[in-house]
Amino acid sequence: MKIAVIHGEVTAGAGRDEQDVLTQVDCVSRGLSALGHEPVTVPVSLNLAAAAQTFANLRPAMVFNLVETLAGKGSLIHLVPSLLDALKIPYTGAGTEAMLLTSNKLLAKRWLSAAGLPTPAWFTNAETHEKLQIEGAWLVKSAWEHASVGLDEDSVLFRADRKRLLAEMDCRREELGGACLAEAFIDGREFNLSLLDGADGPELLPPAEIRFDAYPPGKVRVVGYRAKWEEGSFEFANTPRTFEFPARDNPLLARLKDMAFRCWKLFDLRGYARIDFRVDREGQPWVLEVNANPCLSPDAGFSAAAFRAGLTFPDVLCRIIQNTQSTR
Ligand SMILES: Nc1ncnc2c1ncn2[C@@H]1O[C@H](COP(=O)(O)OP(=O)(O)OP(=O)(O)O)[C@@H](O)[C@H]1O
Ligand SMILES: [Mg+2]
Repeated sequence: MKIAVIHGEVTAGAGRDEQDVLTQVDCVSRGLSALGHEPVTVPVSLNLAAAAQTFANLRPAMVFNLVETLAGKGSLIHLVPSLLDALKIPYTGAGTEAMLLTSNKLLAKRWLSAAGLPTPAWFTNAETHEKLQIEGAWLVKSAWEHASVGLDEDSVLFRADRKRLLAEMDCRREELGGACLAEAFIDGREFNLSLLDGADGPELLPPAEIRFDAYPPGKVRVVGYRAKWEEGSFEFANTPRTFEFPARDNPLLARLKDMAFRCWKLFDLRGYARIDFRVDREGQPWVLEVNANPCLSPDAGFSAAAFRAGLTFPDVLCRIIQNTQSTR
């Protein structure tokens, strides 16, 4: 079957986070070929008319959607499934609504809270949550960008009041790709739960924890930009992923699993997803974010969990394309 593998056009000066999509395109294309399909790479830009014309010429049976940024912006990615809906072309992964609701962290947090799923307290200059106690540590992060863009340990502010946090958001707005939020910093363990669609609905892949064991006391524990992208940095070398848990973690893992499935249902996710959690010192899990269509690079969290489950990359692709969303 002819499958258009689409990604956001990557400009020459793009950072590692944006260039990573090309690794995904390469792996997915090779995997699809191994399955006997005919992958055709299609870079997508803001010229959606040109993309529509390319699809009309190619007539793909489906689209494999790897678009993580459009014109370098995370805030535009829901336009792509929206266009595919309008063109009645089936595509992999999340639908338009799920993509919009999860790629905007503020929207996602409102939905999570309304559904009773714990997500750290937050505020912005527009969404003030006046009654919030601003104490302890808070983190300033982007509402739309992912891959820890603009996020490192200096994003965490200790003993800052509301005014200071609002000023910090203002300062960082540009670097954080526009809208941003202040969020209560959950100082504790970090987990990634990956889900893969199957014939009987989503299946949980082995849960992973990101460990900060080598961090000296006082060093802020975040999986920031350096930890994800700067090979050779202390953070990159010292944030290993583990799938090994002592039996005493079983009740916590069961809670995380339940929350991950509730997120899948709440956002009507499809194909594949990764939910990121932090667990505070009291053992309370908090949903940091819901990643619809998470990164499929072989060294990223989703693929690592799939390999741990004994699946090969083509197995994963096969499951994703079998559950491809047809137009609604
Ligand atoms: N409220 C928080 N409390 C503690 N740590 C946090 C919080 N928010 C974010 N972090 C840290 O920052 C990292 C990146 O944050 P988050 O997952 O929200 O953003 P992202 O840039 O979308 O990441 P991804 O690469 O997973 O798409 C988290 O993995 C975690 O280490
Ligand atoms: Mg994350």
